[in-house]
Parts: sequence; C-alpha cells; structure tokens
Amino acid sequence: MNYVYTLIVTCFLTIRSETFGTDVVPKTCAEKQVLDLLTEWRGGVELPLALPSLDVIHIPSFENVYQGFGIKISYVTGDMKLAGVHDFTVPSLSVSPDYSRASITLRFPLLTLTSESYTLKGRAYLLYPLTGAGFLNVTFQNVEVLVGITFVSKQTTQVKDISLNLSIGDVKIHLSNSSWPLNQVLSLRRMEIIEEYRSTFVTAAKDFMKFEIDRVLGNKITVETMRAIANNYCTN
Ligand SMILES: *[C@@H]1O[C@H](CO)[C@@H](O)[C@H](O)[C@H]1NC(C)=O
Ligand SMILES: *[C@@H]1O[C@H](CO)[C@@H](O)[C@H](O)[C@H]1NC(C)=O
Ligand SMILES: *[C@@H]1O[C@H](CO)[C@@H](O)[C@H](O)[C@H]1NC(C)=O
Repeated sequence: MNYVYTLIVTCFLTIRSETFGTDVVPKTCAEKQVLDLLTEWRGGVELPLALPSLDVIHIPSFENVYQGFGIKISYVTGDMKLAGVHDFTVPSLSVSPDYSRASITLRFPLLTLTSESYTLKGRAYLLYPLTGAGFLNVTFQNVEVLVGITFVSKQTTQVKDISLNLSIGDVKIHLSNSSWPLNQVLSLRRMEIIEEYRSTFVTAAKDFMKFEIDRVLGNKITVETMRAIANNYCTN
C-alpha cells in the first residue's frame, strides 16, 4: 500500500518536474505535434530533421562604437558563445490547422553570452581614457521571445515571414580588466543599453531562424508530405 502510494507520488513528481507547469497544454493535434518536436529538440533527442544543436550557439565577432551616458568607446569582441538556449519552456503556442501559420512563445530563464577576448578603447566625459581587454560575460535573465511565422507553400514549404517580439527581464554585463567606471556604468544603465541594442538582437534572431527553418525544410518538404506526417501523427 505504502509502496504503491510512493510510486504514484514519484510518478507525479517526475511528470511535474519535466513540465513544471510552464509548457502550454496543446489544444489541437497540430499544436501537440509542434510542442513534442520542441520538447525533443530541447531534450537533445536525435530527430529525423537536421535541427541545429542547442547546446552552444556560436556567434561571430562583433565590432561597434557605443556612445552614451558620458562615455564613447569602440570595441571588438572575439567569437562569442551563447549558452542556456536549450533550457527553454513554451508558455504559449498556436498553430493553424493547415500549418501555414504558427505563433510560439519561448521563455529562457538564463542565457549566457561569453567571449574569450574583447578589446575596447575610448573616453569618459571627453577626457578620461578608457581601455579594456580580456574576457567578456553577459547574462540575460527571463528572456521571452514571441515568434510569429507564416509559411508559403508552392511545391515546397518555405518561410514567408517571421515576426519577433523580445522582452528581457534583466541583464548583467561584465568586462574583465576594463577601466573604471565602465562596469559600473554598464550595470547602472543596463536596461537603457539593452533598449539600444534591441533591434540588433531582433534582426539577428530573425535571420538565424529564417535561415535555419528554410535549411531544415531544405526546399524538399512539400505540403503533401507535411499533411501526411501530420495525419499519421494525429491518428496514433
Ligand atoms: C588588460 O588590459 C590591458 C590594456 O587594456 C592589456 O594590455 C592587458 O593585456 C590586459 N590583461 C589581460 C590579462 O587581458
Ligand atoms: C558570468 O557572470 C555570471 C554572473 O554575472 C556568473 O555567474 C558566471 O559564472 C559568469 N560566467 C563565466 C563563464 O564566467
Ligand atoms: C509585438 O510588439 C508590438 C509592439 O511592441 C505589438 O504591436 C505586437 O502586437 C506584438 N506582437 C504580438 C504577436 O503580440
């Protein structure tokens, strides 16, 4: 009796810890199919589709000038790594029955962007010289991305349009070995700085998704194939 009880409680806890009340409950078979795909992708299950690995996303080096809050710096980063991407949940999801439109919210509790090396040069208040060289670490907390995708189906299926809304709960930027008061300014003004970079993030994320989805669909998947897969899925 006790044993059975323990077993039931254990199963309940196991199920709960996997979903943790955060993934949406799918309303239709199409939504269940997409959610299952996302869950398997997140879990690192090998899938027939060649989805990119979510362990670490490599981002090429980035060079720019930043001006604001009394500082002006030019900087260049080395190649960067974005980690924490596979820890997402799916708080909302909707897929049209014909698979031509989807909108998905992905929530990432913690994303970490690092680079082994960055360098910067600049000035504060026009006269005080600023330098920095070393390790770069940016953490983003509670990032929510709302993606809307429409597909166009001719002979094959391709992405027609992607819309993307981004919200970032908090960010911490750490530049090792940089002049005072750079880290202090970055900390104090972090949300304003994020606002300035928002469109850069959004464009990069949209380009990445469009490229990857079109690559996965590979100019091969026809509307009929998709429908056949879907029908099989839903009758099982
Ligand atoms: C610290 O920064 C200075 C110049 O900004 C650079 O010359 C030096 O190599 C850096 N040290 C490390 C450990 O990166
Ligand atoms: C990056 O910074 C966070 C805190 O801001 C820290 O917890 C984490 O360990 C750092 N990551 C690396 C690779 O240094
Ligand atoms: C995205 O944000 C814009 C403005 O911030 C808003 O007008 C739009 O409705 C949002 N998109 C969705 C799908 O919620």
